[in-house]
Amino acid sequence: MTLREQMDTIYHEFTLAEIPWNIEKPPDSIKNLVEAGWVLPCDAIDLGCGAGNCVIWLVSKGFRITGLDLSPRAIELATALAAQKRVACWFVARDMTGIVEGFDGSFDFAYDWEVLHHVFPEDREKYVMNVHRMLRSGGKYFSLCFSEEEPPSFGGDGKYRKTRIGTTLYYSSERELQELFEPLFQVEQLRTVEVAGKKGSHIAVEAKMSKKDV
Ligand SMILES: C[S@@+](CC[C@H](N)C(=O)[O-])C[C@H]1O[C@@H](n2cnc3c(N)ncnc32)[C@H](O)[C@@H]1O
Repeated sequence: MTLREQMDTIYHEFTLAEIPWNIEKPPDSIKNLVEAGWVLPCDAIDLGCGAGNCVIWLVSKGFRITGLDLSPRAIELATALAAQKRVACWFVARDMTGIVEGFDGSFDFAYDWEVLHHVFPEDREKYVMNVHRMLRSGGKYFSLCFSEEEPPSFGGDGKYRKTRIGTTLYYSSERELQELFEPLFQVEQLRTVEVAGKKGSHIAVEAKMSKKDV
């Protein structure tokens, strides 16, 4: 089964309340970036937006925002949620490891929240090149994914760990992410943090970056 099929199945078979990562309020890290003025209202894209919660919150902060996700079912859910809340934003089903056309130089800010651990090392360069192409000169990029410093749990303790809902995740180190991002982005801050989740906290690596003109 492909990741897209897996994700579609999850978004079909579970309610939003049951989906382990689906949280209505925005992640503290993104809230802090906006409230500290690291990024001001602009044209933005949420990569791997899931059911669109953070997109909807950013609209309330003045952003013009597009949500993108691999899973067409996630996009249906996000579109329905935005319509229900009467929020103006856009959603598209695309795979960031594939060919993503029509968005070159369209955004000032891109972020992915808990997405990159679904993208294995062999596909990450394509993913990051797509982010780079979507951003305007000087555009900002924030990324957070699971860290290899996460203690052993139900999924084991290796770089690849299988979750209770059947997905396999890749746990990153700071060094891997530095090497991944630095050819195309100026890495302003890279650090390992504890992130509150729906069922307890976990350890993640986060990076604040700006686009290099290369
Ligand atoms: C753990 S969920 C997080 C969703 C959302 N950011 C949130 O916090 O609710 C990861 C999401 O990334 C999407 N995703 C994974 N790989 C992707 C890719 N290559 N391109 C686009 N979306 C992807 C999945 O479909 C899923 O919705």
